[in-house]
Amino acid sequence: MTSIGNFDMKILGISAHYHDSAAALVIDGIPVAAVQQERLSRRKNDASFPLAAIEWCLEQHGLEPDDLDAVVFYERPSLKFDRILTSALRSFPQSWRAFPKAMKNMLGEKLWVRGIISSQLGVPGRKILFAEHHLSHAAAAFLTAPCRHAAILTADGVGEWATLTVGEGVKRSDGSTKIRLLRELRFPHSLGLFYSTFTAYLGFAVNEGEYKVMGLAAYGTPNRVDDVRRVIRRTADGAFELELGYFDFHSSVESSFSQRFVDLFGPPRSPYEPIDLTSSEGRRFADIAASAQRVLEDILVDITRTLQQETGLTDLCLGGGVALNGVANMRILTESGFERLFVPPAPGDAGCALGAALFADRIHFGRPDRDVPDHPFWGPAVDPDALARLAQEDGLGAERTDDDRLIEEVADDLARGLIVGWMDGALEFGPRALGHRSILAAPHDAAMRDRLNRDIKYREEFRPFAPVVPVEHADLYFEMPPGGARLARFMSGVFPVRAEWRDRLAAVTHVDGTARVQLLDAAMEPRLYKLLEAYGRRSGMPVLLNTSFNLAGEPIVNSVAEGYSTFRRCGIDLLVAGDCRVRKRGQTHETRLEDVA
Ligand SMILES: [Fe+2]
Repeated sequence: MTSIGNFDMKILGISAHYHDSAAALVIDGIPVAAVQQERLSRRKNDASFPLAAIEWCLEQHGLEPDDLDAVVFYERPSLKFDRILTSALRSFPQSWRAFPKAMKNMLGEKLWVRGIISSQLGVPGRKILFAEHHLSHAAAAFLTAPCRHAAILTADGVGEWATLTVGEGVKRSDGSTKIRLLRELRFPHSLGLFYSTFTAYLGFAVNEGEYKVMGLAAYGTPNRVDDVRRVIRRTADGAFELELGYFDFHSSVESSFSQRFVDLFGPPRSPYEPIDLTSSEGRRFADIAASAQRVLEDILVDITRTLQQETGLTDLCLGGGVALNGVANMRILTESGFERLFVPPAPGDAGCALGAALFADRIHFGRPDRDVPDHPFWGPAVDPDALARLAQEDGLGAERTDDDRLIEEVADDLARGLIVGWMDGALEFGPRALGHRSILAAPHDAAMRDRLNRDIKYREEFRPFAPVVPVEHADLYFEMPPGGARLARFMSGVFPVRAEWRDRLAAVTHVDGTARVQLLDAAMEPRLYKLLEAYGRRSGMPVLLNTSFNLAGEPIVNSVAEGYSTFRRCGIDLLVAGDCRVRKRGQTHETRLEDVA
């Protein structure tokens, strides 16, 4: 550990070259900017070197690369290279086709990361550090959580070698911070790759279709659990191992499941065939999704229960892509024995940019602990003036009013059944739209869900929409267990909708009676909070449907130009950016308040 004094140390964190690259800037121990490359390049899940994201972070704070004290990469490329080489040799000759591709990737980009960073940014190699991948995940979760002593679980596809780690973090009263790893599981035994294999088998895109497996699972019966347990076996120490004969990902780049997997579960779904849940084939896929989901949850509950008993701690921080599984998170919260569960807004690889920077600050440089602001809003801010100009050039008038009036009138529009594109303040960091780049609508009627799926999101009907509600009102509509509010702050848990409200929350209640609800704290988002209250005065329920502001296949909108273009291309009726509003001509939606109250 190198100890550095208390000056304004500037640390840039980077994740890149695998999936969803990002940059984050930490100054004097506090995050000040973070953005995913896809939001700027407009290429979904952009994995390229995040030059635009880095430039934006630096520009925001008037910095040149030369001003940085350190640049931290979110994994150690040499360890990853070691893993790829070893696994390729182990599974030779099956791996011969995967090997050159993996080598090219490693040699072309990953292994030379220090050189790439140094030449792209013009920073000397000695300032470039590497944080181990799962420590970056652990840091992203623990160092941003408002707790001082917690157990930590990270689980993803794979980083260097680790695929799952359990450990413990402590922020001591003398300001020092320690993250201690207790155990790790290693490639190829991976919960993330297990779930991704089912994602691929069910015909969805790996690394982004995992949500769809979870959504589809609710339509199925977990009647294939015994078969799923044949491909992922429990070990005596409470962990698991994959039965590798069913998998191909360790020896192939083209496929992740083997012929033996197909012999067990039947033919895979073609990505081009729609899922018909009324057919036996559609139900077979839903049953397999439900079974894989159930087994994933059971394993996570067992591992976290053991971790709770072992550490005796009450708080658990969760990181890695597996932490995006809100149904599993809910079961961990209620069944593991931990009282609180913290999932950061960006638990996946993008969030590792922030995790790596914080890890370097607290642990590598040994600088004192600082409280990190408890929100996800670290990206570019919206510019209402730019929206006014765009709308005027395009022949649509823009309205500018004071905030109180705007909020009352937008609430009127929502109560009339209009769909609102809502842009406010700084862009969210992470995959969830938490009210700064959201599409908002009335949550009552299933017809609204169908209209959103058909006219805006162009997506499968089995995927649910999420509600947002003021934290103070949540218990009335949702069954929130103790600790649930924390998990729902960043939409990281799925909770039951109370049976008596399901009919009146039909657009946001999933087929199994649950919802991935966001509990809104007034201090975190005062304008959306006021809008919920104003809407509640009209409808009797301060609940809105909140879905990410993007079309299918596109990243969430960042600037008002993207918001405006999306608004013009789909069925959104009204676009709001700060104090500026633009509406389409000829809106004809009838008042639906009588359906609501
Ligand atoms: Fe990861």
